[in-house]
Amino acid sequence: MDMIYLDSNATTKVHPEVVEAMLPYLTDQCYNPSSGYRAGKKVKDAVELAREQVASLIGADIREIYFTGCGTEANNAVLYSLAGMCGENRKIITSEIEHSAILRVCEHLTERGFEIIKIGVDGGGRLDLDAWEKAVNADGVAFSTLMWANNETGIIQPIAEACALAKAAKVPFHTDAIQAVGKTVVDVREVPVDYLSISGHKFHAPKGIGALYVRSGIRFEPMFRGGGQESGYRSGTENVASIVAMGKAAEIMQAKLGSDGHAGVAELRDYLETIIKDSLDGVQVNGAVEYRTANTAHLAFEDCEASGLLILLDEYGVACSAGSACMTGKQQPSHVQKAMGFSNERANSSLRISLSIFTTREEVEEAAKMVIKAVNKLRSVQGRGNVGPVVIYTE
Ligand SMILES: Cc1ncc(COP(=O)(O)O)c(C=O)c1O
Repeated sequence: MDMIYLDSNATTKVHPEVVEAMLPYLTDQCYNPSSGYRAGKKVKDAVELAREQVASLIGADIREIYFTGCGTEANNAVLYSLAGMCGENRKIITSEIEHSAILRVCEHLTERGFEIIKIGVDGGGRLDLDAWEKAVNADGVAFSTLMWANNETGIIQPIAEACALAKAAKVPFHTDAIQAVGKTVVDVREVPVDYLSISGHKFHAPKGIGALYVRSGIRFEPMFRGGGQESGYRSGTENVASIVAMGKAAEIMQAKLGSDGHAGVAELRDYLETIIKDSLDGVQVNGAVEYRTANTAHLAFEDCEASGLLILLDEYGVACSAGSACMTGKQQPSHVQKAMGFSNERANSSLRISLSIFTTREEVEEAAKMVIKAVNKLRSVQGRGNVGPVVIYTE
């Protein structure tokens, strides 16, 4: 890579072993898995192996995994399915900090008479469970959806508790686990969610492949109808190469979680934070650190606008982001940080730095140096306590 990439919550590099596994299905093994001849059946076997690998990563049964075109599709498919099956019930229980792939769907459903109830989080970015309990026990609840880990802060939600409360109230429970799968243990035997969304490109598979977990015995109404692939849950000729890739990536991440549970990634993330905090004053770590995914640091730099920092860091060869990638370029403070009670200043001065299993110690040291340089530069041109328009002098 021609820069230090610290934006792995946005997307990740495809693992070389994953590239190797998928390549034959882009070239010689081009057959349709639905074809009856032996070559087609072999391709079908590759899809089923991938299903097994993805199922194994989250402790699911192979018959509970359906491949989708991306994580957004998995979220949309579940929410519209639930909205179509909920009878007279019209309340959707979710959180203030969901990704737009949940929030925009919920907002669209309000046009069909649904009401969204967004439960808040505390200053550490964790769900208010008392409010959640009250909400799922109200009359007329259609379904509930809560992310497993947040894409901006990396904060892991009290998912087992929220799931148990929803189930006790007989409310269907979906989780957007896109930022958790492959980074922390996600096991549907321990947390009995009804539905769960996964995205391959967050854990070293290519972009444009996702999966949906639907617990056996739980109803689901497909969004796509057609050739009946994926047991009729997602028609459309399978994206075999990407499915194989996601399976291989799942296998690699499962082995990684089993061996060191990403301790090496967390150690590098903590090292980066330590260097930065030791060299700069006015740095705050956002979110409840004990609940973070191993790879994410979310830092606020007093008297520094993140938009300016990003431009300087790009100039210095470091890629990271302010809030989520989808927020970049927008002026409003992130809805996640607002939900955590941050002032506009703090929200607009926060950087998301997200590592991966490929991040090296040398990269962390160099990136920390560049962050310190960028913050000092920005503070020198803007003046401490006097955040005005961002003025950038590049070298
Ligand atoms: C929490 C969360 N949900 C959904 C998505 C969307 O996934 P995809 O890019 O595969 O559509 C993302 C990606 O940024 C995410 O972080």
